[in-house]
Amino acid sequence: MALIMGMSVLVAAVSVVPLPQTLDMREGTLLAKGAKITESVDPSLAAEGYRLTVGPDGVAIAAADAAGAFYARETLKQLETDGRWPCCRIVDAPAYRWRGVMIDEARHFLGKSAVKRLLDQMAAYKLNVLHWHLTDDQGWRIEIKRHPELVEYGAVRPRSVKYGCPTVWKGGRPNWVFDNDRYGPFWYSHEDIREILAYAKARHVTVVPEIELPGHERALLAAHPEFSCKGNLARVPKIGWGIDEEVVCVGNDAAMKLLEDVFDEVCELFPDAPYIHIGGDECPRTRWETCPKCQARLKAEKLSGASALQTWMTSRFVRYLERKGRRAVGWDEVLVGDVPRSTVGMSWRNGAKDGAKTSFVSAAEAVRRGFDMVMTPNDRTYLSRPQGFANDPYPHFSPGGPSITLKTAYAFDPMAGLPSEGRAHVLGGQASVWGEYVWNAADLECTAEVGEQPLPTAAEPSAAAVVSWRRKGECSAVAASLSLSTPLRRSLL
Ligand code: ACM
Ligand code: ZN
Repeated sequence: MALIMGMSVLVAAVSVVPLPQTLDMREGTLLAKGAKITESVDPSLAAEGYRLTVGPDGVAIAAADAAGAFYARETLKQLETDGRWPCCRIVDAPAYRWRGVMIDEARHFLGKSAVKRLLDQMAAYKLNVLHWHLTDDQGWRIEIKRHPELVEYGAVRPRSVKYGCPTVWKGGRPNWVFDNDRYGPFWYSHEDIREILAYAKARHVTVVPEIELPGHERALLAAHPEFSCKGNLARVPKIGWGIDEEVVCVGNDAAMKLLEDVFDEVCELFPDAPYIHIGGDECPRTRWETCPKCQARLKAEKLSGASALQTWMTSRFVRYLERKGRRAVGWDEVLVGDVPRSTVGMSWRNGAKDGAKTSFVSAAEAVRRGFDMVMTPNDRTYLSRPQGFANDPYPHFSPGGPSITLKTAYAFDPMAGLPSEGRAHVLGGQASVWGEYVWNAADLECTAEVGEQPLPTAAEPSAAAVVSWRRKGECSAVAASLSLSTPLRRSLL
């Protein structure tokens, strides 16, 4: 009861997102300017956790590690009102070690300043993983010096789906309007990436680069049409969204070598990245079923069918990265078949069939089988979906899928539906922002106001924060800690 009283006092006075686990409000305030701040190490505190004491004489921060001390200072920033801090004692630690946000720069390139701004927001909300989707059918956004042709052909497309054009279905096909504007070339140089990594590191954010394989590869195949099963594709990335049947030819050894070169360079470029994402979602097997090279691979490796070719390829790259000291992460399709247990699964459907064109493993089954998982179910955490407003100024956000309101996002529980014996395998949660309908940084931010209701940002990092820092049952308290001045958020209480 005392804790709840404490919370309500804090909520009334200030807002801290996500709401700390325990807090104890005290009488008085401290002038922030010139205040004495001391830091100490306390190994008894949890990883990334901290104890923050604001007293009339100064501020004391204790943490077991540098991330904890950093988060204490982020909390201090949020506590400040009119240059003063309320006297209080906060002891806090995250519920999950993976508190992620994904951005997709393959579809639309956001650029360094948008990424840095997102990293600032992530730090403020104590989010610690930026999953950076850098390659897909529509664009290759990372310089690979060993293969400059990847950006030469993959980072530019002759036209695109026109700004604001939603996917309207007509006769079973998408009916997009296209512009005639060359898009790009847009890509990050090694120098750009190093700059972003330094910025992220200073904010205790780990960056997980994603290089898709073997599907969503039209940008790679623009540079190397010979690595498709057909061998004669146009030398441009895909125009328009969706799932493409042209994927990497798994029977082609030179294609495997190219991808190894890419991962060699990615590992050099991201020296501190413990995880490398290898994609793996939505890969049709149509071409593999009739391709002589793929069929030869199937025979040589004594595989049971085309689906096993993806298992073979996933395992090959999981082990390749393992030899370099990295763990591979893949969308939940990659867990089909006998892939190494070290593979981290990223659950995007959590058992529901929604959107499934190829088989996948549910999070419940995956954790039961001993796979570590990151939870980003598309009906809760795909924040590029429409957000349920009557007069939504961004109606084009991933139309067709269910709306995800702030309330839905906040109700997300990474452990929902998972067997108790597998829960230790849940690394955490992630908000994912796909880029088809996020044309630019302004779309990502969505700063528009609808009448009295401020529209949550597409990225809405605070929603990601509350679900990955706090545990189930605490969300209403967390929602209450959001800026209470906004009518939308007040309506969540
Ligand atoms: C996905 O949404 N295709 C991972
Ligand atoms: Zn093939």
